[in-house]
Amino acid sequence: MRQKVSVIGAGNVGATTAQRLAELDRFDLALVDVVDGLAAGKALDLSEAGPVVGYDSRVVGGTDYSITEGSEVVVITSGLARKPGMSRDDLIEANARVVGPVTEEVLKRSPGAVLIVVTNPVDAMTELTLRVSGLDRFRVIGMGGVLDTARFRHFLAAELGVSVRSVEAYVLGGHGDSMVPLRGVTNIAGVPVGSLIASERLEEIVQRTRDGGAEIVKLLKTGSAFYAPAAANAQMVEAILGDRRQVLPCGIRLAGEYGISGVVLGVPVKLGAGGVTEVVEVQLSEVERAELERSAQAVREVMAVLP
Ligand code: 2OP
Repeated sequence: MRQKVSVIGAGNVGATTAQRLAELDRFDLALVDVVDGLAAGKALDLSEAGPVVGYDSRVVGGTDYSITEGSEVVVITSGLARKPGMSRDDLIEANARVVGPVTEEVLKRSPGAVLIVVTNPVDAMTELTLRVSGLDRFRVIGMGGVLDTARFRHFLAAELGVSVRSVEAYVLGGHGDSMVPLRGVTNIAGVPVGSLIASERLEEIVQRTRDGGAEIVKLLKTGSAFYAPAAANAQMVEAILGDRRQVLPCGIRLAGEYGISGVVLGVPVKLGAGGVTEVVEVQLSEVERAELERSAQAVREVMAVLP
């Protein structure tokens, strides 16, 4: 028996996450969507890709949560994506009505699962999932930081003409306009980014990172990003189920780390068996610390709308 992962929501983010996970040839997958036939059709299509790509991952899909039974990780992507002109926060009421019941359904079948929350506004949805599930804060993890950091690394690599693999960076804070791309610890093969890129240009790259999701929404017009979000989801699943203890920026409810409590915020954590195994505290400058506090405040304001 392979480890089982369920993905809730078979839209672009959910289905592409399932595809990436299937291609790893390591997990059995269940894909669930309320729309009749959507998850079943995509699961069958993914299964039929196996002989060509060369994987034996079992992929099942449907509308009934019974197929998720016994999952070790569940990735929650269900809900609406934003359209041009909308912020992630505009989705809160509609998506809260979806994510609460999804969490209950999932936990009935997989009480021991680690939950990765992807639905926007993701920090508030992670908080909602924590409240509905009553789970330990290290088992309910928001995806945002890995995606934001990927965007930052991509822009820096393109600017410097260097492989993305040589760019070490972190983006902390909420997955929204207030996110905090770290300048201090970001480096290219150990060389601080501040000595390679002039500060004005670096601030432009920081701003493009903050606007990264909106830039894609504007281009696509009818939806939001999904390749990079799906890649981020798959990396988090692999880190957890492989007990990698990989340090990745993820949304967790803080309890005093970074001097902040009672709010879900992206910070570097070790991801391994059972979810977060440790919160990692990196050195922040005074400016970065103030930005992180502002970001916590922005997330608190969104959270205040939660039912
Ligand atoms: C993004 O940043 C959809 O929030 C997601 O692209």
